[in-house]
Amino acid sequence: MTDLTQWLQQQAVTPALQQLILALAEAGKDIAALIAQGGLQGVTEKSSTINVQGETQMQVDIQSHALAMDHITESQVVAGVVSEEAEQAIWLATADAPYLVCMDPLDGSSNLAINGVVGSIFSILPAQAMQEDTAFLQPGAQQIAAAYVMYGPATLLVLTVGRGSHVFTLDPALRKFQLTAADLSIAPDTSEFAINASNQRYWQPAVQRYVAECVAGLAGPRGRDFNMRWCASMVMDVHRILSRGGVFLYPRDHKQPAKAGRLRLLYEANPMSLLVTQAGGASITGETDVLALVPTHIHQRVPVMLGAKQEIDLIAHYHQQSQA
Ligand code: F6P
Repeated sequence: MTDLTQWLQQQAVTPALQQLILALAEAGKDIAALIAQGGLQGVTEKSSTINVQGETQMQVDIQSHALAMDHITESQVVAGVVSEEAEQAIWLATADAPYLVCMDPLDGSSNLAINGVVGSIFSILPAQAMQEDTAFLQPGAQQIAAAYVMYGPATLLVLTVGRGSHVFTLDPALRKFQLTAADLSIAPDTSEFAINASNQRYWQPAVQRYVAECVAGLAGPRGRDFNMRWCASMVMDVHRILSRGGVFLYPRDHKQPAKAGRLRLLYEANPMSLLVTQAGGASITGETDVLALVPTHIHQRVPVMLGAKQEIDLIAHYHQQSQA
């Protein structure tokens, strides 16, 4: 078996990047151990604070952020961090370091109340000369690496350094991530889609049409039956797509007109889009490739539709048609 350290040594990546990815993997191990405590350690309790997204933070969100920050700081190769759990960008003493990290230390944490699957999401960008928010406002195509750690029945690290997407499984006895699936590949078509259907009345016409045609099944224009899944945990939904195909849609809707979408560009949409496109999938907002977007704000929200390439192309086509 190849462990993460050995695998990184075989890749054409700098020692500094190897160090950073190993630091994020260590953070993942610590967060996995933390959440495995469940109700024994109050992991499911909400704190009284509200995060930058206006959501009630759980203690475990704040603890996961602290654990990830400790490992990132210790790595000495990161100049600054954007975290879902911190309103401002965090600048570290290692100002000349080569990388920036954007992270959601514990995505989907409300699932912990039902002992559901959650994850950590990381995006690595090249550092810039300036130490201000604009340094982070780089299109997702400039990411050097992206990863998530999935805390499920097994703890997984799914990683890309720009040459395919790969799965490492944590061996709890050895405390090592071992390579268990290399070069993931998402089939170009699918008969499975994921969307929070309770928002249907707020969707735009292109998404209304796509979903209606899937639901119509064999008798409809798609001529086949579709299956639907929704985990309310982006890590789990994206992992299903990387494992067995499908599409995931969190489209623009008019539920809250001030918000363009629900998911955050820098630490949800961008890293997941890189992992999916590295596995042969596609990722769009509707009109544009997610990875081509120039961010305007560190906590910006965007619509995201990703997965099977032919299906995403069809959804893009429906968006073009509805605008024509
Ligand atoms: O952004 C947090 C998140 O929990 C994602 O992980 C998930 O895909 C989405 O929100 C779930 O949204 P909803 O509450 O609409 O199901």
